[in-house]
Amino acid sequence: MNHSPTIHILPPEIAERIAAGEVVERPASVVKELIENSLDAGASAVSVEIRNGGLSLIRVSDDGCGMSRADAPLALERFATSKISTLDDLEAITTLGFRGEALSSIAAVAHLEILTRTRDELEGTRVRAEGDQVRVEPAASPVGTSVTVRDLFYNIPARRKFLKSPMREGELVRQTVIRYSLAYPAVAFRLVVGGRETYVAPPATPLERIGTALGREVAAEMVEVAWEAADLRVWGYASTPTIGRRDRRGQFFFVNGRPVRSGLLAVMLERPYAGRLPPQRRPLAVIHVRLDPHLVDVNVHPRKAEVRLSQERSVYGAVTRAVEAALAPYPRQEGEFPALEWPFAGVPVEPGVVREARAEYVAGGLEPLGQLRNAYIVARGREGLVIVDQHAAHEQVLFERLVGGEGGRPLSPPVRVELTAREAELLEPYLGPLADLGMEVEPFGGHAFLVRSLPVPLAEQEPRVLLDALLEELPRCRRLDPEAVRERLAMKAACTAAVKAGDFLTREQMQALLDDLMASWSPATCPHGRPAFVLLTVEELERRFMRR
Ligand SMILES: Nc1ncnc2c1ncn2[C@@H]1O[C@H](COP(=O)(O)OP(=O)(O)OP(=O)(O)O)[C@@H](O)[C@H]1O
Ligand SMILES: [Mg+2]
Repeated sequence: MNHSPTIHILPPEIAERIAAGEVVERPASVVKELIENSLDAGASAVSVEIRNGGLSLIRVSDDGCGMSRADAPLALERFATSKISTLDDLEAITTLGFRGEALSSIAAVAHLEILTRTRDELEGTRVRAEGDQVRVEPAASPVGTSVTVRDLFYNIPARRKFLKSPMREGELVRQTVIRYSLAYPAVAFRLVVGGRETYVAPPATPLERIGTALGREVAAEMVEVAWEAADLRVWGYASTPTIGRRDRRGQFFFVNGRPVRSGLLAVMLERPYAGRLPPQRRPLAVIHVRLDPHLVDVNVHPRKAEVRLSQERSVYGAVTRAVEAALAPYPRQEGEFPALEWPFAGVPVEPGVVREARAEYVAGGLEPLGQLRNAYIVARGREGLVIVDQHAAHEQVLFERLVGGEGGRPLSPPVRVELTAREAELLEPYLGPLADLGMEVEPFGGHAFLVRSLPVPLAEQEPRVLLDALLEELPRCRRLDPEAVRERLAMKAACTAAVKAGDFLTREQMQALLDDLMASWSPATCPHGRPAFVLLTVEELERRFMRR
């Protein structure tokens, strides 16, 4: 460099936008901040509305305490907060907000409008921020506050480029609303997406709220967690070992009412499930930890997504103890999960987990009657007529066997495949995850590779065809964690190897598939979530034929 760079102070409008970027990452972070403000304002109902994934519009309305005409414009100023005033307060935060930063940050990167009224005022106030202009005017308003955010990141196009599709951003908003609704069941929540009400949660007990947010089947399989020590309380709900998920998306943790994400908490929760739930399965849970606010430092993350605890391990250890106590009625299997005999061959399972599926469907089993259009298997079951989508069903069966870790079957001789330079480069980093699935592939000089084994459930597949399919999937694995990569690859492999619609199946093949499906963990859907079968009950038939 010929000349040394000169140091200069950034103009305030640029500095502001950079600082705002820390707080406001995407529509979901705006929603999070606004919901937190509503909760801090003592709202009993919070309504969230978004359009275009939150990019065109986000509106969060509450029936909380509102802001007075004098206070409302101050809310937009940086470091303006009603929640703390002294350093001592910062040592013991009892509200979700404390920095006085959220609204000013949002106003720096979007068009923001506040409509608000307190109980003592007859007339409400509208505050509008456009650039550095703040306009205040009288306006009719119900008691409470409604904050509208339009055209997010209109002035930082670079930031927009990092956003996902409006649908994905909308989904993140939805997850945010669900998370807070689980934390505050006494508060009513509502989400409107593109004019359509997609989530309505009336005030409820914690367990009822779990039913609304995560599904009634989940709520029915929850046990209460309640544990207390001198200065610490752990409570909430955790799933019984009869259900489980492949990921941790069903786990919610709150420390002093604040959602936190922490791998350590997940591990502490999962520990008591060892020997009760198969290793690939994750419990679902909504767990609250409450402790003296002096022991929690909430001021460690720009989006307040994490907290720091003094004596983190002992606090989180309480989660293990609390959940362990709640699971006491569910006996633990010491050591390995017993591999059950057919029809569970090869899949390490805990008997309780498949108990229900088995009781319901394999009481007599399913008897194939025939194939419809070579795509659906029609079968007779105890409950009625079962129609199975043969591809979806086979996909699910293979998928479960793949992630169940049956290992590989060696190819003799190994198969040499020649890839392009681009494919070779793509493949290299994923040789580990492939080996985990039972597919051992090793470099063989140049862009050649040697396929040494195929996953047991896919041992009959053409190695090259399978590898090509997986190569297609690899670009989508880039930013995923190893577990998610394994799952994606298993899904792709299962889809490639599964029987297709149009394939003729013999009676024996149909029977084998039906048996396998009914023995699987989650026979209801394929790994992508499409239904694997529909059940036409005898009752339903009687209704249709007007016998009832
Ligand atoms: N929905 C609301 N109802 C009543 N008052 C509100 C509402 N939203 C914001 N306020 C007022 O505006 C102030 C500023 O809000 P802002 O979110 O910017 O900061 P904060 O909540 O104090 O701290 P943080 O930046 O950590 O969220 C709040 O302290 C509160 O007094
Ligand atoms: Mg706030």
